[in-house]
Amino acid sequence: MKLIIADSLNKFYIKELYKIEKKLSLLLKGKKPDSLYDACRYSLESGGKRLRPMLVLLSAKAVGGNCNQVYHAALAVELLHTFTLVHDDIMDNSPKRRGKETVYKKFDNNTAILAGDSLAALAFETLLKDCNKKSKEVISSFTKGLITVCEGQGLDKEFELKEEVSLKQYKEMIYKKTAALMEMCCNISALLCNAKKIHIDFITGFGKNLGMAFQIQDDLLDIIGQENEFGKVIGCDLIEGKKTFLLIKAMNKADAEEKKALLKLIRSKGIERSEVGFYLKLYSDLGIIKDAKKEIIRYTDLALSNLNKLPETEGRNLLVALAKSLVVRSK
Ligand code: IPE
Ligand code: IPE
Ligand code: MG
Ligand code: MG
Ligand code: MG
Repeated sequence: MKLIIADSLNKFYIKELYKIEKKLSLLLKGKKPDSLYDACRYSLESGGKRLRPMLVLLSAKAVGGNCNQVYHAALAVELLHTFTLVHDDIMDNSPKRRGKETVYKKFDNNTAILAGDSLAALAFETLLKDCNKKSKEVISSFTKGLITVCEGQGLDKEFELKEEVSLKQYKEMIYKKTAALMEMCCNISALLCNAKKIHIDFITGFGKNLGMAFQIQDDLLDIIGQENEFGKVIGCDLIEGKKTFLLIKAMNKADAEEKKALLKLIRSKGIERSEVGFYLKLYSDLGIIKDAKKEIIRYTDLALSNLNKLPETEGRNLLVALAKSLVVRSK
């Protein structure tokens, strides 16, 4: 049974991925000036997982709607997500994304800032094409999602400078920078499909918890991922001195000697690339890798329990399979 579900998710994913890629590239085709749009095209057409559009499409099916009601919304959330990535890479000094040079590296800072800005504007323009009677609610949810991401990104930068960040503060930060956007994907999709209030709440709760699991896993893959699969430089969070799930948990579990090493990382606002191996071993010794995996499963289970409250449909089953597949993702 499991295999059948995974198989149908795969079919859905391949079919919809093709459509999404095509529609995304059409959005920017022939736009001028090239000095702006080459950078937009470069970032948008560089093969992300397109997870957020998939959440929009599948949420529609899971609340009794269909994909045709939400295609523009699906494109809009990917545009918005790509904008956040382009700016995030400047903020995080990240050289690589989706297996390629980041936009600010390939072009320059100013071009990346402007490309990000126009992707955000294009996201709103695209979303408006799907808006129906519910347009006020949809745009307000989309806007709230974006504001929340900015707040989360603000906290992420603020925490780089803080010696102590609690797990509770970390969770607020990742809710805002990552989970809020996934929550919004599910929410606007259900709104556009005129779903029942209670179903909107369940699918939105699913997106939120899935987003929490997703960011903790992103933190984990920064340490244990394979660069050629993950598409980003491994150890970047350590190099930048990011307050990740792993670092905060390690601070809570470390003995006096281990704490010294962690405080050195925190006080010097990151480490050299050559020291990444040392911290990986420290995290392993402290059992942090296991802790992260447990927390990812806990949030995924919370996400699934929200889904289970929806009536059983093909869309719901596909979302279950999607959530389970993310637990073992490597990119
Ligand atoms: C990266 O998101 C940013 C995070 C929220 C961790 P994805 O891992 O979904 O990136 P792409 O879109 O597949 O490249
Ligand atoms: C993701 O944070 C949040 C946003 C991009 C808004 P990260 O900084 O961890 O994402 P990656 O690892 O660079 O993709
Ligand atoms: Mg970041
Ligand atoms: Mg980053
Ligand atoms: Mg990351």
